[in-house]
Formats: sequence, structure tokens, C-alpha cells
Amino acid sequence: MTDADQVRDQIRDDAVEAALGKLDLDTKAFLLAGQDMWSLPAIPAIGLQSLVMSDGPIGVRGVRWTADDPSVALPSPTSLAAAWDPELARRAGRLLAQEARRKGVHVLLAPTVNLHRSPLGGRHFECYSEDPYLTGAIGSGYVNGVQDGGVGTTVKHFVGNDAETDRFTVDSVIAPRPLRELYLAPFEAIVANAHPWGIMTAYNQVNGTTMTEHRYLVNEVLRGEWGFDGCNVSDWMAARSTTGDILGGMDVAMPGPTTVYGPALAEAVRAGEVPGSAVDDAVRNVLRLAARVGALEGAPAVVETAPDPVDGQALARELAARGFVLVRNEEGVLPLDASAGRTVALLGAAARDARVLGGGSATVFPERVVSPLDGLTAALPEGALAYAVGADPSEEPTPADKGFELLALCRDASGAVLGEGGLPTGQVQWIGDDLPAGATYEAMASIEVRGTFVPRESGEHTFGTRGLGAFTLAVDGRHLWSGVQEMGDEADPFEAFFGAPSERARVTLTEGEPVEVSLTYQVPDMTAMPLKAIMFSLLHLGPRRDPDELIAEAVEAARAADTAVVVVATTERVESEGFDRPDLGLPGRQDDLVRAVAAVNPNTVVVVNAGSPVELPWREDVAAVLLTWFPGQEGGAALADVLLGEAEPGGRLPTTWPARFADAPVTEVVPADGRLEYGEGLFIGYRAYEKHGVVPAYPFGHGLGYTDWAYESLEATADAVRVRVTNTGTRPGREVVQVYLAPLDTASDRAGSTTVERPASWLAGFASVAAGPGESVETEIPLPARAFEIWDEEARGWRRIGGAYEVRASRAHGDTRLTATLDIA
Ligand code: BGC
Repeated sequence: MTDADQVRDQIRDDAVEAALGKLDLDTKAFLLAGQDMWSLPAIPAIGLQSLVMSDGPIGVRGVRWTADDPSVALPSPTSLAAAWDPELARRAGRLLAQEARRKGVHVLLAPTVNLHRSPLGGRHFECYSEDPYLTGAIGSGYVNGVQDGGVGTTVKHFVGNDAETDRFTVDSVIAPRPLRELYLAPFEAIVANAHPWGIMTAYNQVNGTTMTEHRYLVNEVLRGEWGFDGCNVSDWMAARSTTGDILGGMDVAMPGPTTVYGPALAEAVRAGEVPGSAVDDAVRNVLRLAARVGALEGAPAVVETAPDPVDGQALARELAARGFVLVRNEEGVLPLDASAGRTVALLGAAARDARVLGGGSATVFPERVVSPLDGLTAALPEGALAYAVGADPSEEPTPADKGFELLALCRDASGAVLGEGGLPTGQVQWIGDDLPAGATYEAMASIEVRGTFVPRESGEHTFGTRGLGAFTLAVDGRHLWSGVQEMGDEADPFEAFFGAPSERARVTLTEGEPVEVSLTYQVPDMTAMPLKAIMFSLLHLGPRRDPDELIAEAVEAARAADTAVVVVATTERVESEGFDRPDLGLPGRQDDLVRAVAAVNPNTVVVVNAGSPVELPWREDVAAVLLTWFPGQEGGAALADVLLGEAEPGGRLPTTWPARFADAPVTEVVPADGRLEYGEGLFIGYRAYEKHGVVPAYPFGHGLGYTDWAYESLEATADAVRVRVTNTGTRPGREVVQVYLAPLDTASDRAGSTTVERPASWLAGFASVAAGPGESVETEIPLPARAFEIWDEEARGWRRIGGAYEVRASRAHGDTRLTATLDIA
């Protein structure tokens, strides 16, 4: 920190103290409760603006949860981590800060740094890696980037929210060493390396205490040991106890207006249940955050002038390609030979209707989406590309989209229209005051989603609903269904958002002939509801064709082409916040499609469009497998760049890809009696595969570029490793040099002679280097002291484990090119 920064910090602290001194207890308690879904109240008397927060992490949604307020959609966090490049993550963060500023957002609810404990985790796509060091490094780059732009972050979800089942109540039971060495480690690294201005405490419990009330982990560890000086925001609706939360170090209860803070908190202080100083501490943290982002008068913002503008579209395209992981490339089938006369058959539903992001609060609405079909159509000469659906992974209706022109009409009890709003899709998602002009929760009795639908295909079309409450559906002037959807027994409060779609009626329609559609929703009485929101959807599914016929059609297209590119994908019903996956299979008939295509075309390239691991049982039978994750809005353009060799696939796996689901180290995420035991201890990800001798489909760190690398030399000291590599191929490229440590004195601690269980090897550092053909680069990779330490619960501290270590310079875990021995004192 420079002297000038220190002076500015002091001015900010003084402004915070001065503002705090002017507030009475009621106003303080009022400030700590959300005023609505996304913001805290303004307090003009002290020059405090309303602090606005928004999800996160691949874009900035803004305070509106609808497609008419578009945002740049970057690739999924798994993809960002796959680039193994904290500087690239920093550039992503800067773009997000720019988006936040454009949308009036002060704090981005991101990054998500829970770990890939089990591939079943519904938000796996939203987290970075199975490795805490890689997660911490990418998360630090990201937070630094967002904060470079003067926007705050909330590193989430602190801690132990590594799966979704019963997420509001589950008790994650984690022993001290894995808690420290794995799950807390990314948070700790980010606090040390990026100094985040915020943190979000999770819904779940850890070892019997709910995280919003966890005095030990929040007050002692996060604030005490690590020196975190930012603001602690509850996850949405996680705050459940006025005294428990304030004493547990939770500063802000979100969302509002009905929360456990506000008047209840002032009351608890007056009743002597909570010391006034606890409220002051929380208010100080909020004011400090406000000062940092420039929302408190008299306090200089950390960043006063916005950094240089970033081209979001170009960055989204670059990031996507940098995250693509080429896990198999037989005979160098990629990049494709695109010379005149060569043809490509593009197959798969997701090639046309691209799946660019994962479901849940990470959803943003991009202005445009480039599908693989769009990308390849633009890049290939006319006549070179043929397309067929082949297999459709989604058998369920999704929000009405292509071919629909819809609006929402809000009516009062007499039927008079109070207000109306355009709807880009069939999804109505109005939160807080974000209602069409003229409509209010008090006056609104019904909402009709109405408009026309021009079918893309003739046949039987399915219509459905998502959401809770009473509906009436009509198509082409015909009443088709009326009924009530009740909430399930164990439903998540966000059921209307993630819940299962319900099919309501089927109608035979003709391609190109418009019909009227109408879905009316009865608005329930919301007076007693803690959160005022309207969430429901009109759903649609096009005519289903015989799956065998679809595959046969794709096979014919593949047979006639030089190369077959099959895009396989998961759906929003497979990977989303709010629930976990039951298995890792690709939905629908996609495996059959790949097998059938590979049988007729030896140049079959499979593009896997999934945010987290899926089983690829045919992987040895196809020429190439390219993992594209959820590639963000420019995914199709990046895919064309990579397939045709304009760009290299830059990614390396941030998580081990199992050959079969049963091989994954953790295959159970359903709590028993409310408890989810992290019984595997330190052994998740590659640490577990190595321990149990299980060979995965593709190991952690694996990924092929379009050039070759020779590892020339390795020199190691206890502080750093120097590695020299040469690009021995004919194209420029980028290599991720990975450094693993393997203790040679297995399981024994020379110093104390106590037996210490440790993994056989672990990632200690890495560097992303670029070189032209024939060029060499030498890179110095620091070895953090922590790489040699374990957590000693008895001593409540970190203990360095001396002895001999093998230092490995590797292309992937288990693919070691050079070794050296280190003797650690
Ligand atoms: C999610 C958070 C998110 C919040 C606000 C919660 O359900 O767990 O990650 O930031 O909603 O959308």
C-alpha cells in the first residue's frame, strides 16, 4: 500500500466514524436490513446513498431479473478456472465492474469459491475447482479485477455450501484439517491476496452452527485470524435470528424489507440481549463498504476514475476459447482442415439452441447469444455446413421464447388494466418494486401473459407453467386448462424459480400460422410475505419427433460430411442452483447419437457443453473431445475460432473428469438426519483418485493445445521453482506449467515423529506461459509457505512439515515431465 493510499484509508475511516457518530440506534438497525431485494436504505442525513447489490458471477444482472435489461454473459466459472490464469480472471473482473457501474450496482454478489467436492453439486458449474489453491488464485484475480473498477465483491458462500440438497438447513460436518486445508483455504487466500470488501455467509450449518451465526468462523477466523475488514452479507433469506446473527458477526440481513434486523435489532439492544457495540461494528462495516465504493459523502472512493473501457463481446469470446479444454485429439483431427470443398455436419439440439450459462441466481440475460450453428455458419464457406438436431436433451417445456411475442397485462379485481410490460420470453420475474408502471401489489388481482405464437414446426406443441398459484391457459381462443400449483413439502423458497415445469396441454399447430396465447395468473395476497415478488412462466415445447428418426437423419448428414461435430449438453433441469444431480449421465438419447455418428464418420468431434463433469462412455471411439463448459454469450463464435484453428483451446481441467460416476470420490450429497458428513476428509478430487488408485477419464490439469512443449529444466528452492519450456511445434501456443509437491517421507513428520496423513501429492503453484514456434520461456513459480504446512488443531495453528519432497513440473496431475528433490527444514 502506498503512502497516498494510507492517507486515503485514514480519511475514509474518519468519515466512517463521523457518520456513525451521527446515527441513533433505530437508524443503525434500519441500515443493516435490506430495504428490498437488492439494496440497503439511503440515509441522506449522513450523505449515504443506497448500496445496490447484484448477482454474479458471470455477469451483472442488475436489480431487474428480466431479459429486457441485458448484461454481458461471460463463460461459467468452471471455464474461467480452466484457463489457469489469474490475470485473465482479473480482466473478467474489470469487465464486470464496468457492467456494474453501467447498471448502478455497487457490490457484485460473487465469486463463488466453494469447492468441487462432488460432481453432483448443482452449483458445480458456478464454482472454480476441486483444488483450494487454484480456486484461491482464480478467485483472487477475479476480486482484484472487480475491485480495480471500484466495485465491491462478496466472496461466497462462506463456508461448506458445496452441494444444494437441503441447503437452508444441512449441517456440513467437516473435521478441522479439511475445513482449514480445503474449504476455508480459498477464502483465506482471497482475503490475503485481494482484500475483498465483502463476504456472503452461507445458508447451511457447519459442525452444528448455522453460518450466519457462526461466531468462531466469522469473528475469530475470518475477522480475527485473517484480518478481514469488509462487510458480511447474509445469503438471501439465510438470516434467521436477530441476536444469533448480530453476535455471529453478520452485518447485513438480505433481502428486505422484512428481516431479523431493523426494528427487531433495535429492540434486542434495548432489551439488553445485544450490546450496542455489536450493532456499531456492523454499521461501521457497512459504512466502510459504502466509503470504498464511493457511496458515502466526504469519503474518497477507492477508485475515483473508472478504468479504461473493455469490449465485453470481444472479452467474452476470448475467455471462452481460453477456457475450452481439448481432452482428446487423435491424429490431430483438430484444428479442422477448412480448405475448399471440405464439409462439416453439425449435430445436436444445443448446437442450435445454445446453452451458454447455468441455472439459478447466476442467470443473466445477454443481449445476444452466438450458438455453435451461428458461429460455424459465419465462419465456413457457403455450402460447407449441414445441420441436424440428432437428439434433444430436453423433454420438458421451457419458457416460451422463439416465435413468441408476448406482453404482460396487470389487472385489478374489476378487470381494469393497471399497467402493462413487454416480455422478451414467457418468464415473468418481478421482484420488489420492479413492476410495470401503474401496477402495485395491493391493487393487482391478476396478470395475463398474452400474445401471438408463430410455430417454427407443424405438429403437436406442448404448453405448460412454472410457478405456484392459480392459472388459466388458453391457446388459439380455446380454454385448455385451469388449476392451482401448490408448493411441495420440502420446497426451496425459490421453488417458483427453479421448480419443476408442469405440462398443461397439447395443441396441434401449423408451421408459420400465428395463434393467440394467454396465461392468466391470480395474484395472491402478499401482505404477510417477507419478500414481494411475482415469479411464474408460460412454458412451451415444440413437436417431439421420433428419437430414432432424429438419430438416423443425423447419421445420414454425418456420413455425407468430411467431419461430424456433435454438440452434447446438459439442460437447466440438470445443472442449476437449488438442487443436485442424481448422476452424471447426459440427458436424452445423446450418447446413442454420438455412438451412431462415430460409427459412420471417423472424424467425429464431440463438443461437450456442460458446466461440470458428465460421463462420456464413447470417448475412446471418437476422434476428438472438446469441453466448452457453459461458454457464455459468444460461445459459438469462440467454438468456430477453436475448431478452425483461429485460436488455440487454452484450458486445462480444473477438476478431475471421472470415467464413471461411481469412480467419483464423493457420490453422496444427500444429508442423513440433516447432517452431511465430509467423511472423506482431505481426499477430494485428484487427492482421492491418487489415494485409491482410480484412473479417471481425464486427470486434473489435463488439456491439449495445438502445439507441443518440451520441459527443458527445473530448479527448485523452498520459495520458488524455475521451469524452462520450449514450444517445439509449428504454431504459437500457451502452456500451463503445473508444480506439484509429493512428500517423500510418507506420512511421517520428522520433527515430531507423529504420523501425519497427507495426500500423495498436491498442487503448489502454476504459471501460464506463451511462446512462438521454437521459442523457449523460463518462468518462476513461487511456492507458498502454506504448501508445506498442515493445520494443527491442537496448537490452533499451521505447522510446517519438514523432510524431503519431490517437486514435479507437470503438464497435468500424473503427467510429470521433470522432477527435483527439496529438503525442507
Ligand atoms: C444464492 C446466492 C445469491 C442470492 C441472491 C441465493 O439463493 O445462494 O448465491 O447471490 O440468492 O440472488
